[in-house]
Amino acid sequence: MRELTPDTITDAVLDQMATTPDPRMREVMASAVKHLHAFARDVNLTPAEWIKGIEFMTAVGKICTPARQECILLSDTLGLSALVNGLHDNTAVEEGTHTSLLGPFYRETTPKLAAGSQIAGTVKPGSECVLYGRVSDVKGKPLANATVSIWQTGADGLYDIQENAASVDYRGVFTTDADGIYMLRTVKPIGYSIPMDGPVGAMVRAQARHGMRPAHIHSLVGAPGYRELVTALYLRDDPHLEDDVVFGSSGDLAVDIKPNDPACPIKGLPSIRFDMRLSRESAVDKISGRVGADPSAILKPAAGAGNGHSPASAPVAS
Ligand SMILES: [Fe+2]
Repeated sequence: MRELTPDTITDAVLDQMATTPDPRMREVMASAVKHLHAFARDVNLTPAEWIKGIEFMTAVGKICTPARQECILLSDTLGLSALVNGLHDNTAVEEGTHTSLLGPFYRETTPKLAAGSQIAGTVKPGSECVLYGRVSDVKGKPLANATVSIWQTGADGLYDIQENAASVDYRGVFTTDADGIYMLRTVKPIGYSIPMDGPVGAMVRAQARHGMRPAHIHSLVGAPGYRELVTALYLRDDPHLEDDVVFGSSGDLAVDIKPNDPACPIKGLPSIRFDMRLSRESAVDKISGRVGADPSAILKPAAGAGNGHSPASAPVAS
């Protein structure tokens, strides 16, 4: 019988897993084992530390519900989601607006609203603003009838599903007009803390990180023949624009609130303009996917088939 040692165990595992019929699964798992073993050797992982890690992962899984996805939050706070987003951007056939995190609060059952509608159920005096922009291809050609799903937190810094899993607020699905323009009324977003009452929050605190995200509004845009865009706009004046705890704020996604933008189609309110450029769709888009998902969809048994996601044009139900 061969002797398994810290120096030979990795090859033994790889040998046994070499029978994996699916070539991509074989490749991914072999690399994962190599890096996992290398990590354990690198830090000389002790049994106590190993069990602490097992306890942590168990807690991350146990706190997940249809409205709370701690696994995505862990991925986000470790920068893995942003990394996968960036790798995904690199596969586009054209450089459009960069992606940003879908995050754990997107939901597929978002109401379809008329252009100009207010998405916030409660609007505090002075907080109302307009969000508008043009959806186009990378050369600037407007895309009519594109679907733009928008979601953000309320004035308390919480998403609707964090307060009540059944409520729908601060989110809506809009359609661009013949000039590619979408427009809606909302409230000025505020920066907020990620949920700090679970194992990921405990990890962030143990690392002396602040846990804050800069003020942002999420969007998911789809148009036939174009790559789906998952992104977010970030308010430039937010103090955490440069140290977002989930590494979502990046590059050209920063915007300003203008008090009196003459180009804004809705007058009399401060406004945010956020144009989005979509790459043409390619074969890779059939097999790639979205970083993140509606948390309730992840817990559904059927979500294991395919990537568990619906196209941007689908979330039309209240
Ligand atoms: Fe968010």
